[in-house]
Amino acid sequence: MEKPKAFVGLALLLLLVQSFGIANGRDEDICRLFSNNTVIRDPDSCGQSITCINSVSHYSTCAGSTPFFDKDTGKCVKALTDDSSCAVSCEDAATQFVADPKSCYGYYYCSDQETALYGKCPTETHFNATTQTCTRLYESACTASSFEYCNIVKNSVNFDNLQGCNKYHVCEKGVLKDKTCASALYYQASTGTCVAKALVDCDAHPLPSNVCGTVKKPLENKFVTDAATCRGYFFCAKQADGTPDANPTWNQCPQDYFFDASSQTCKNPTSVACKWDRCDGRTATFVESATTGCREYLICSDGITQEEKSCGNYFFDQTKGACVPDVLTYAACK
Ligand SMILES: *[C@@H]1O[C@H](CO)[C@@H](O)[C@H](O)[C@H]1NC(C)=O
Ligand SMILES: *[C@@H]1O[C@H](CO)[C@@H](O)[C@H](O)[C@H]1NC(C)=O
Repeated sequence: MEKPKAFVGLALLLLLVQSFGIANGRDEDICRLFSNNTVIRDPDSCGQSITCINSVSHYSTCAGSTPFFDKDTGKCVKALTDDSSCAVSCEDAATQFVADPKSCYGYYYCSDQETALYGKCPTETHFNATTQTCTRLYESACTASSFEYCNIVKNSVNFDNLQGCNKYHVCEKGVLKDKTCASALYYQASTGTCVAKALVDCDAHPLPSNVCGTVKKPLENKFVTDAATCRGYFFCAKQADGTPDANPTWNQCPQDYFFDASSQTCKNPTSVACKWDRCDGRTATFVESATTGCREYLICSDGITQEEKSCGNYFFDQTKGACVPDVLTYAACK
């Protein structure tokens, strides 16, 4: 087997190129989008797979007579039948090197007109089909390849689309679809499922529909709930043209206060009937539950409800953080 000329004197080449330190575009790990143990094809290569473990990419390379990774079966195969983005032909290219259509550093060696063998150029070099060598980055005109998600992810696998805490993607029959979780839920990338909003660390709560009213009835200079947390609210500013504020600002009440829309203020949580996680932003370990009757309380840990417990025939006293025999009712649990 003939080798690219650049392989000769490789060690010297590596020494020369190492000082350039050009980013390879993998700083933002694609596995942040995928649930644990999902296997996808490497978007940068037709011959590699990525297993996502705890949001970090772990690469495997297909070799020998099965140089291509098939995303649907999760196996290395001799040829990909239905993925034109990875079409590599050895026709009329026997004993030559051809480029990996998905990467600048990958190539295939055609041992005959039918057999492609996957290979990779050394770090910081790109394959050049014209010269049949691995060349230094500054000599290469190759740019990072683009990819379609549905060419690297099999059907029916949910993954994050980073377009909002309640949104995700899924490929259906090879076509990328946008999905939205049900109204009380957010998308959790690590499990690939929609879960209670409180369980997702959401940087930017999506705007509820008609958050600032409608064209007919805009909310002007009003505070409204963020529909995700008990402390969070949006401020809808009055617009010069009389339309609803399209970009209301988000803010939240201080620790141990909940937002109350009717009074337009932050109040003691016991006087606010909020259905979202009541442990969020609380310093106490035991807090009142919103369950009718005021006999239940919540056990909090790290701002997340762990469990709801009952005081039995007693009532929960928020100031004492304990069950008491006296009848006690809060607006939160009326
Ligand atoms: C993810 O999967 C790995 C390997 O199967 C396992 O060791 C790890 O505990 C999993 N992580 C979570 C958060 O479940
Ligand atoms: C390959 O090398 C040739 C000759 O040096 C050069 O003209 C061409 O731009 C290179 N192609 C790429 C994709 O870098």
